[in-house]
Amino acid sequence: MESYELDAVEHITTRPPREYRTLSAAPLTPVIGAEITGLDLSRELTEEQLREFKTAFLDHHVLVVRDQVITQQDHRRLAAHFGELRPVNPPPPEGDPYVLEISTNPEAANVAGNGWHTDGSADAEPSLGSMLYLTRVPEPGSGGDTLFANMHLAYEMLSPALRSLLDGLTAIHDGLAAFQGQTPPEGYVAPRSEHPLVVRHPETDRKLLYVNPAYTTRIPQLSQEESRALLDLLFAVTARRPVLSCRVRWTPNTLVFWDNRCVQHHATYDYYPFTRYGQRIAINGGPLKG
Ligand code: SIN
Repeated sequence: MESYELDAVEHITTRPPREYRTLSAAPLTPVIGAEITGLDLSRELTEEQLREFKTAFLDHHVLVVRDQVITQQDHRRLAAHFGELRPVNPPPPEGDPYVLEISTNPEAANVAGNGWHTDGSADAEPSLGSMLYLTRVPEPGSGGDTLFANMHLAYEMLSPALRSLLDGLTAIHDGLAAFQGQTPPEGYVAPRSEHPLVVRHPETDRKLLYVNPAYTTRIPQLSQEESRALLDLLFAVTARRPVLSCRVRWTPNTLVFWDNRCVQHHATYDYYPFTRYGQRIAINGGPLKG
C-alpha cells in the first residue's frame, strides 16, 4: 500500500470506540457498518435513543437492526425522524406511495439493485438515506446479501494528485442510465442532475467520492474520451478495494439503514429460486455541495 492509503485507513481504525448508554453498536468492519442492539423499533424511540442512533449512523454509515417485528407505520415513523419521506418513482400502482416493495421470486425477470449504485443520485436533491426492512429472505447459506462501500474512504485512498484533480470537477447523473437501454417502467420521471464529483457530507463535512456506475454518465469538464476513462477508473475503485466494503447477511425481520450520501450499495442476486421480500422507505436529502 502507498503511504496515503495507509494514512486513510489508519485515521479510521485508530478511532476509539464510542460509548453509548441506550444501545450497542458492534462494528461490521473497522470502516463501515454496525449491528445495533438494544432497540425495539416497534416503539417510539426516546430522545436519547434517537440521538445515539443518529450518532451511530454518522459514525458507521450503515446500521443493521435485527429481530424487529414492525408495521409499515413503525417503519415510516422511524424514517420520518431523519427527514421528509421520498415518494417512490414511479408511484406504486397501489399501497403507500412512500413504500417501495423489494420483491424477488423465481419468476422475477429483473432484480432491483444488482450492481453498485446510490439510490436517488440523479435527483437534484439526492436521498439522505434508505431504510430497507426484509421479512422474507433466502434460506441460510442461499445468498441475497447486500454489499455497502464507504465512499469517504474511496476518496481518501486516492493519490493526492488525483484527489486535487477531482476536487474541481462535476458529474452528470442520469436516471435513464440505470435502465441500460431498456424501457423504464410506466410513469417513471427520469431525473438528470449535475453534482460535484467530490462532495462534502452535509452533516460531518467529510469529503467523499460521489460517483456510481448505475447513474453517473459524464464529467462535463473533460472530453468524452477522458470522461469515460476517468469514470471507469473511479467506478473500479469500489470493486478493486475490498477494504471499503461490508457485507450484510440478512435474517428475517432485519432493518438496514444506510447513508446514500456516502455509501454505494449492491444487492447480490445469487439466490434463485428463493424468494426475498421487503419494503424500503427513502428519506429526502438536500443539494450536495463540494
Ligand atoms: C436497493 O438497491 O435499494 C435494494 C437493496 C437490497 O435489496 O438489498
